[in-house]
Amino acid sequence: MNPGNATALAPEYVRSIAPYVGGKPIEELAREMNLDPATIVKLASNENPRGPSPRVREAIAVAARDLNRYPDGNGYALKMALATRLARSPDEVVLGNGSNDVLELVTQAFLRPGDRAVWSQHAFIVYPLATKARGAIGTEVPAKDHGHDLEAMRAAITPRTRIVFIANPNNPTGTWLPPVAVESFIASAPREVLVVLDEAYNEFLEPSEQSNAIDWVGRYPNLIVSRTFSKAHGLAGLRVGFGVMDASVADLLNRVRQPFNVNSLAQAAAIAALEDAGYVEESRRLNREGMRMLEAGFARHRLRWLPSHGNFVLVHVGDARRVYESLLAQGVIVRPVANYGLAEWLRVTVGLPEENQRFLDALAQALQVGAGAAAGAHR
Ligand SMILES: Cc1ncc(COP(=O)(O)O)c(C=O)c1O
Repeated sequence: MNPGNATALAPEYVRSIAPYVGGKPIEELAREMNLDPATIVKLASNENPRGPSPRVREAIAVAARDLNRYPDGNGYALKMALATRLARSPDEVVLGNGSNDVLELVTQAFLRPGDRAVWSQHAFIVYPLATKARGAIGTEVPAKDHGHDLEAMRAAITPRTRIVFIANPNNPTGTWLPPVAVESFIASAPREVLVVLDEAYNEFLEPSEQSNAIDWVGRYPNLIVSRTFSKAHGLAGLRVGFGVMDASVADLLNRVRQPFNVNSLAQAAAIAALEDAGYVEESRRLNREGMRMLEAGFARHRLRWLPSHGNFVLVHVGDARRVYESLLAQGVIVRPVANYGLAEWLRVTVGLPEENQRFLDALAQALQVGAGAAAGAHR
């Protein structure tokens, strides 16, 4: 069969999905621009620029000795470690190949074609992707000041709604909702609707802002809280995240989960990461400092930015495509966000101080070239 015919076999709702576009990999830019990968700065995927902690690297090295064995499909030790730390039962924890996997599992277990899911405009793009892959239909609620409008999201719930997604903080906007507002939303939502509270960036919040949403799981059987080791713990490449939810919901997710979705290196690394609270604290501190550095740079250029609660920040640059290309040519990768309805903005991940500086220098250059071109056009 020719491949053209084969694609026609896929449901229309799959064929209409726009592919996910991630941050440009360093190696790809190096190939395209003929650059030394070591000179490239990537601030495009909200990764932790420090990499995993020494303790975690050691745990990975030890676990690597047994790679001939399948991982523990139930993730016993990691679930025990999480349950102890979060004061929940291990049967309320579902492990994922990144927290993305948990989001996918929820849609897989709960959405039928024609069902509805609700999310905010500018919310993390995996919500529409995972929803559409099930033939379900999204209701995108207009954002308020670039963030989630919880009142409008509550009003958007209909009898067909099965899931509401909330990202707190949200990517790519960095907006944040106080936990008390999130809890009153959950309390007001019908019990037949699952609320997925995505807290991928929770650890970057100041401790006084961090939610205790995992404690709410005992109160709201329709709540799923997802978190990840990809961000503050510096383990994006290993793919490990988790969700906490009522044991009956966890049981359903585990039925559709691939038996070995979290590999053995990731399990060992995550356990070690949980024991390394000092590393996360230091990452938070560096992130705060880096954020101030980027903000000061934006202010110098009189650029508008959205105050962010994550490890990234949206900056308004106008002709974002041109600025992005100019940064690439200078070996700096950031993230265009036109696919989020933010065509004039770029998302920049906070890097190490020297990386932030490289970006700011390149940005100055990109803006200068742009200003020159604009002046030329008016001559
Ligand atoms: C809001 C949000 N949720 C979830 C994820 C998924 O991360 P991971 O699958 O690496 O845990 C991301 C990654 O960028 C994110 O920004």
